[in-house]
Amino acid sequence: MPKTIVEAKVIGQQILSKDVKLIEVFAPEIARTAKPGQFVNVQVSKQAAPLLRRPFGVAGIDYKSGTFKMIYRIMGEGTQILAELCSGDVISIIGPLGHGFDLTAKHPLLVGGGLGLAPLLYLAQSFLKKNIEVLMGGRTASELFWQDLFNEETAAIHMTTDDGSLGTKGTVNALLPQLLETGKYDCVYVCGPVPMMKAVVKVVEKAGLPCQISLEKYMACGFGACLSCACGGVGKRLKVCTDGPVFWSTEVKEW
Ligand SMILES: Cc1cc2nc3c(=O)[nH]c(=O)nc-3n(C[C@H](O)[C@H](O)[C@H](O)COP(=O)(O)OP(=O)(O)OC[C@H]3O[C@@H](n4cnc5c(N)ncnc54)[C@H](O)[C@@H]3O)c2cc1C
Ligand code: FES
Repeated sequence: MPKTIVEAKVIGQQILSKDVKLIEVFAPEIARTAKPGQFVNVQVSKQAAPLLRRPFGVAGIDYKSGTFKMIYRIMGEGTQILAELCSGDVISIIGPLGHGFDLTAKHPLLVGGGLGLAPLLYLAQSFLKKNIEVLMGGRTASELFWQDLFNEETAAIHMTTDDGSLGTKGTVNALLPQLLETGKYDCVYVCGPVPMMKAVVKVVEKAGLPCQISLEKYMACGFGACLSCACGGVGKRLKVCTDGPVFWSTEVKEW
């Protein structure tokens, strides 16, 4: 699997919501090789702290300009430093890392919530036939700014909000069963908070469809050396950073 350490130049940042930003960086080696579902490990600062690199999914690539995008929520020290970077700053990035999505589906349904929609955005960009549908869920309408980012890549966007302020009221599972009943999808791709993913997998497996899940675990090295990202697979332990982060739902038992 190609893996490079690059000094990537920040092209710019965009505010997507009060605590979510999009950063675009110039890193032609990564832009050329990153597959949807793979991630990169970012050293947000040249200072001693924070010591560990921070992992982020690839949210989109501009092959012509050699740039790629990450979308991130400001959570703590690392993402706060990232949020303060300006155009022209340089950051060290290792990637692409991990194992991405299987892209053989002919009519995929992408199901996401929160920052889980970031890798699904690049997944949507990567399917050549634009008959992809997306089901996205959020607590309230302002969390579904993602619809503008997905518009060009998809045939249909279905939305749910916990408070009913946009789309169907409830979680994504308020809509998922009726979407699956149409019988038009051949694979479901899920990324989001763990309780949401578990609930979605149950419904998808009951419907007899294959399901790919993208897992997020605390990571240190990002390339298989430290075991900090282990989870329980069928008959063996799995490392999310190298065996995943994308798995078939049937491969993982404890997550
Ligand atoms: C493979 C992978 C892909 C990821 N992709 C994205 C992405 O595309 N966009 C994005 O915003 N985030 C993504 N994350 C999560 C991101 O790495 C963390 O939010 C980030 O490292 C937090 O760094 P920080 O220094 O700001 O926060 P810290 O100071 O390290 O932590 C702040 C808070 O965030 C929590 N936290 C930190 N890391 C994680 C984690 N991995 N899972 C759950 N909670 C965590 C901590 O418990 C703490 O409460 C991804 C994580 C992994 C493993
Ligand atoms: S993060 Fe070190 S083994 Fe996965």
